[in-house]
Amino acid sequence: MERRTFGPTGAAVSVIGQGTWQLRRPDHAERALRAGLEAGMNHIDTAELYKGSEEVVARVVKGRRADVFLVTKVRPPNTSYEGTIRSAMGSLKRLQVDQVDVLLQHWTDDAHPIEETMRAFGQLLDEKRTKWVGVSNFEVEEMERAQSALGRHKIVCNQVYYSPEQRGAEHEVLPYCKKHNIAVVAYSPFGSGRPPAKGGPGWKALETVAARRGVTPFQVILAFLVREPNVFAIPKSESEAHARENAAALDRPLTREDLGELEAAFPLPASTQLPMI
Ligand SMILES: NC(=O)c1ccc[n+]([C@@H]2O[C@H](COP(=O)([O-])OP(=O)(O)OC[C@H]3O[C@@H](n4cnc5c(N)ncnc54)[C@H](OP(=O)(O)O)[C@@H]3O)[C@@H](O)[C@H]2O)c1
Repeated sequence: MERRTFGPTGAAVSVIGQGTWQLRRPDHAERALRAGLEAGMNHIDTAELYKGSEEVVARVVKGRRADVFLVTKVRPPNTSYEGTIRSAMGSLKRLQVDQVDVLLQHWTDDAHPIEETMRAFGQLLDEKRTKWVGVSNFEVEEMERAQSALGRHKIVCNQVYYSPEQRGAEHEVLPYCKKHNIAVVAYSPFGSGRPPAKGGPGWKALETVAARRGVTPFQVILAFLVREPNVFAIPKSESEAHARENAAALDRPLTREDLGELEAAFPLPASTQLPMI
């Protein structure tokens, strides 16, 4: 599995990582995460919000913390200054680690100004509870506010909904992040279990490219999404076979012709607003 430098961090992170939202069978999920890690997917994404997920990740990370690029998130209702600190400490406890690699604000919350959350993020960075901080579901203006509030520390990533059928991030967030050396992490790359409909034009294009490259349509989706060098993707799987398949998604690179066909099959949306699941 190819690794890329994650935004301004200098950390080498697998281009395809592993999500952990809505785990139905924790024991299966644990095995799949281990299989994915063995196959090189060192980026593991969790959140305070994902019920039972941090506990599963804790079991996977135990004894091999250095092998994992560990990301968790603060739940928006908890993003007051005190709430953010409490939330992060709760995550560290559930994850059974002293420090995460990146702590994200899950999305903005009207009750708590971004500046207040960033003040807490600065404190958590200074106390080494997290190595870096980032955001999720932030529009460009919100990223600018967060960065200006953080001061000397850097926002290292924006985790956004990005799939073949949800390309809204390409309008503003992706170009902004590319320009400012910020990683973009594509969440729900398979539409959260609703990939493009079989038989539809999008799926047919995926199948055509997949057949040409000798890969699966799901591998084509992942390779398509990470075609820009600052983009990473974090599919979720509770299946060891799927985790290995996802880890091999970039083994056979797509050509310019493949990418052109996919871009035509999944047109950009008119709205410049960031989609959210
Ligand atoms: N920041 C945010 O607001 C936010 C929001 C949503 C998600 N996320 C993060 O992004 C992660 C991924 O998104 P998601 O969980 O919504 O959904 P997703 O990754 O788009 O889709 C997951 C579904 O795809 C299936 N799948 C995975 N690999 C496959 C493969 N190779 N072939 C066929 N099917 C495959 C899984 O089934 P199997 O289990 O059977 O493989 C599961 O049903 C989340 O888990 C979470 O960590 C973040």
